[in-house]
Amino acid sequence: MTEPDNPRPAASIATTLIHHPYQPPAGFAAPQPGVFKASTVIFADSAAMRARDWKSKAGYTYGLHGTPTTFTLEERIATLEGGHHTVLVPSGLAAITLTDLALLGAGDEVLIPDNAYGPGKELARHELARWGITHRFYDPLDASALAAMLTPATRLVWVEAPGSVTMEFPDLANLVRAARSTGAVVALDNTWGAGLAFNAFEVGADVSVHALTKYPSGGGDVLMGSVTTRNPALHLKLNAAHMRMGWGVGANDAESVLRALPSLPLRYAAQDQAGRTLAQWWAQRPEVAQVLHPAWPGSPGHAHWKQLCTQAAGLFSIVFDARYGRAQVDAFVDALKVFKIGFSWAGPVSLVVSYDLKAMRATPAWQGILVRFSIGLEAVDDLIADSEQALAALNRAVA
Ligand SMILES: Cc1ncc(COP(=O)(O)O)c(C=O)c1O
Repeated sequence: MTEPDNPRPAASIATTLIHHPYQPPAGFAAPQPGVFKASTVIFADSAAMRARDWKSKAGYTYGLHGTPTTFTLEERIATLEGGHHTVLVPSGLAAITLTDLALLGAGDEVLIPDNAYGPGKELARHELARWGITHRFYDPLDASALAAMLTPATRLVWVEAPGSVTMEFPDLANLVRAARSTGAVVALDNTWGAGLAFNAFEVGADVSVHALTKYPSGGGDVLMGSVTTRNPALHLKLNAAHMRMGWGVGANDAESVLRALPSLPLRYAAQDQAGRTLAQWWAQRPEVAQVLHPAWPGSPGHAHWKQLCTQAAGLFSIVFDARYGRAQVDAFVDALKVFKIGFSWAGPVSLVVSYDLKAMRATPAWQGILVRFSIGLEAVDDLIADSEQALAALNRAVA
């Protein structure tokens, strides 16, 4: 008997297209892991559904709590950071927020370096303050001052190396030792080091927060953050808060980061080399009062960087001589052609932002206007030529 050419399925075509019986053969292998997209996860039966523990990575419960794609990225980030457990959140700032909210409660205090990523300080000033969590800012270059600030209420101490605008590199080991002396948890913003320049856990951090938006994504097109620990009890707290607050990440974004991770060490090294070449070029310029790059001798905390690291991110700042005012510096920034004006760093496009130090710090260490450069993947000679031609606008504006 011959089969009909086009057998009609017993169910309607709409149902069959949804519940199609075909299963592709197992064992497909390719350079990149597959991408699994889900809000709903389907269970074999009711008992399987009831037996599921959302905290366990032995299976799946709901897209928010993990898919093969997000579990794979979590494991790779944990390895990159030298930790054991990672949770993913929708941005680097969300990673800071998750850490604060998971580990602090009313009556607790958090200490934050005064050169820390600004929005994390704003979070403390506003949301944390409204919820009865107090904060103080400390000088990251003075470990003994930090030690003197600790009280029994200090439950969390943030460290960041270096400060992401003024680039001071602290003595991490001493800061961590001071913070630990009263049992506070130490959280490190490890975005600059990217898991490559130094190991967060070897310097004593309990929690490492990473804006995957920067080097791990590398494209300037994804927002994501991670929170990594070695400590299972801390991870459980972070994971529980993560679950209750509903901060999952989408599969397409996780895939973008997974795709960029293999080139991370190469990109980091290339951007480091180009950043140092440019920092050195700026250091020779008469318009510049200070180069702020941890690998540059004379930059605050350079000795601490040298003790801990050989690598650096492609990120640095310069402070123009105080004779150049806002209009002149704006003329310089606006004259740049290869560098684009924009926030963030670690993508392929070199970026520039000028900051008002007086608005950022109670007692700015420098009088001139600060300009931060994020070095992308363009040819370094083109970046130098661009900087040089834009300096003509600075000097023209001052004349
Ligand atoms: C040091 C540092 N931490 C955290 C963040 C926040 O990352 P995101 O932009 O993904 O929120 C940034 C962003 O610029 C940063 O520079």
